[in-house]
Amino acid sequence: MTETTFRAFRIHADAEPVRASLETISLDALTPGEVVVRVHYSSINYKDALAATGRGRILRRSPLNGGIDAAGIVDTSQSERFAPGDAVVVTGCSLSETRDGGYAEYVRLPADCLSPLPDGLTLADAMIIGTAGFTAALAIHRLEENHLAPDQGPVAVTGANGGVGQMAIDLLTARGYAVTAYTSRPAHADALRALGAAEVRDVAELSASEGPLGKTEWAGAVDNLGGDALGALVRRTHPWGSVASIGLVASPHIDLTVMSFILRGVSLLGISSANCPCALRRAIWQRLGADLRPRHLAAMHSGTVTFDELPGVFDDLLECRLTGRVLVAVARA
Ligand SMILES: NC(=O)c1ccc[n+]([C@@H]2O[C@H](COP(=O)([O-])OP(=O)(O)OC[C@H]3O[C@@H](n4cnc5c(N)ncnc54)[C@H](OP(=O)(O)O)[C@@H]3O)[C@@H](O)[C@H]2O)c1
Repeated sequence: MTETTFRAFRIHADAEPVRASLETISLDALTPGEVVVRVHYSSINYKDALAATGRGRILRRSPLNGGIDAAGIVDTSQSERFAPGDAVVVTGCSLSETRDGGYAEYVRLPADCLSPLPDGLTLADAMIIGTAGFTAALAIHRLEENHLAPDQGPVAVTGANGGVGQMAIDLLTARGYAVTAYTSRPAHADALRALGAAEVRDVAELSASEGPLGKTEWAGAVDNLGGDALGALVRRTHPWGSVASIGLVASPHIDLTVMSFILRGVSLLGISSANCPCALRRAIWQRLGADLRPRHLAAMHSGTVTFDELPGVFDDLLECRLTGRVLVAVARA
């Protein structure tokens, strides 16, 4: 039963500096939708930290509740596709951009945003996976659509200790790929090997300048960094291999020539989880409960924070003091 007022971590981004704090709001304040969901868990992604701190321009309207992920139980529904009591998950879908997000005890969303919670996952599992795991799975889906297979050679993963990086290592190695993890924190190499990485290398290796074509090493790559690393991955990818571009933690720019594309047939695949078409989103979530179910969820779950602890966590993520996935416990115990 919907409460009249509830707690939300609300971001006001219409003036500098961006303000974000816990507020008490009512259902009427939420952006519109057919389905009201009682949120049990959310998670913390790089984009959430950019939005909450104002270090990235994520909100396109203000104010909004933060949180690009949510998992919970349908409270009320005006859609035939969902009924009260259904367990659902939402990742991306413009949450914390143009729609109120998952850092609130309730979200109200169009039915198209919601995916049924896959069999085999709890609500907490789904948010340990969250946008990070969904995006890693989407990248693997697109790489394999583009004919990547384990017998073609190793796959590189950058930003390896982050949420997307750890998920990508787990999912790729479960499918039989030999993964080379690139990290700026080699002290965590053992944890990356425990997730399945065959090799761990220093990411500084990907900033060395070289000509327009490098010595080929990879059949494929999953990149979270952008900048020099993405350029180097493309230059060192085998003929007809593919590189999935996910993130920009180092830089949104790439210094590249077209040579890898026109002489080697290398593909650069853009991965955009936020606006992934509804049918593909649901299919990927079903796979995350089945053939793409992460094997090391407990190891990748680096901690759980309450609403009260949430404001203190964003700087830790942006300053690279966290690894893996942080869960946000939204429902009151
Ligand atoms: N396209 C999409 O749909 C989509 C979806 C989700 C995320 N993303 C993007 O993907 C990226 C990763 O997201 P995430 O949630 O996994 O973030 P995260 O948990 O903060 O992980 C980022 C990782 O990148 C590495 N790193 C951080 N700053 C760095 C720097 N300046 N230079 C080199 N390496 C650095 C660190 O790994 P090491 O310690 O191993 O070096 C860090 O753990 C972000 O840019 C995010 O916005 C995009």
